[in-house]
Amino acid sequence: MTQNCHILGIESSCDDTAAAVINNGVVLSNVVATQQIHQEYGGVVPELASRAHQQNIVPVVHQALHKANIDKKDLKAIAFTRGPGLMGSLLVGTSFAKSLALGLDIPLIDVNHMHAHILAHFIKAEGQRQPNFPFLALTISGGHTQIVKVNGYFDMEVIGETLDDAVGEAFDKSAKIMGLPYPGGPLVDKYAQKGNPKAYPFTKPKVGPLDFSFSGLKTAMLYFIERETQKDPDFVKKNLHDICASLQFTIVDYLMDKLKNAVAQTGIKEIAIGGGVSANSGIREALKNAEKELGWNTYIPRFEYCTDNAAMIAMVGELKYKEQLFTENDVVATARMKI
Ligand code: KG4
Ligand code: ZN
Repeated sequence: MTQNCHILGIESSCDDTAAAVINNGVVLSNVVATQQIHQEYGGVVPELASRAHQQNIVPVVHQALHKANIDKKDLKAIAFTRGPGLMGSLLVGTSFAKSLALGLDIPLIDVNHMHAHILAHFIKAEGQRQPNFPFLALTISGGHTQIVKVNGYFDMEVIGETLDDAVGEAFDKSAKIMGLPYPGGPLVDKYAQKGNPKAYPFTKPKVGPLDFSFSGLKTAMLYFIERETQKDPDFVKKNLHDICASLQFTIVDYLMDKLKNAVAQTGIKEIAIGGGVSANSGIREALKNAEKELGWNTYIPRFEYCTDNAAMIAMVGELKYKEQLFTENDVVATARMKI
């Protein structure tokens, strides 16, 4: 029988306060308190996020332990997100993790949030296949857009990334221009299902073969909507499905172009996707087609491990624990942190 190795993961890099317990790759609990407060502002407000983390962290950790049916004395180590993220948010999780590890006299493990999105693929879940090294990881969310060549658990290299906005922001900001509530990504996806993807041609931004740029798309959307609503104030209402389908088609095509470039450059056809935008039906369909037509193997973790969560932090914690990769108690949160 494998020995118990309960690791607590804590995530507080942006607007989700999360805690999870993992044991030998199996998630025993995965608690996320999503902060609703930002909805009325149309985006995350850093000061409000850190305050909400302060309120949420104790009950969220309690709940994670309770759901995992373990006592804190059963924990082998505490893993926490050190960065990248919003400083005020990271400080809450970091300080809490440091105090708890000190109190329990167990090792403290610092985790890079971007490693965690990628290593979430190694969480054991029913029906979940795991990518083989080396693989290409595309992390797409409201905060990140990166292509990473993953040679091993801790041997990763960023080969492409966004030069401005993240892809989730392109969805959310465009949605806001159309008058949709935050976060607009899932709504664009929903309306796109019934629209014509070729109705409005949006130009794909031109940058290096593996890099991304989304700010131009947002500006193009703004001018397009302004121009059309001057002619017909009900333009968005009348054409919502077609606008969403065209926007989504452009973004998905752009992401696929970059992945194809990365495959051509590296010769790697193992493709692992993570981040909230991987819920998008357009990207899922495009990946399925690439499996059939281009011979890729594609991997998407369960949705709860794609969006910001602490199970992925606990997963990295476990991998680091097995290598005895601990950190000192004077560790500090880092807003900018390289892979
Ligand atoms: O990973 P995540 O929960 O949080 C971070 O941003 O780190 O990702 C949230 C992002 C938001 O921008 C949201 O609009 C986008 O993921 N998103 C989607 C879909 N579901 C979530 N974008 C497009 N289509 C979706 N179905
Ligand atoms: Zn994230």
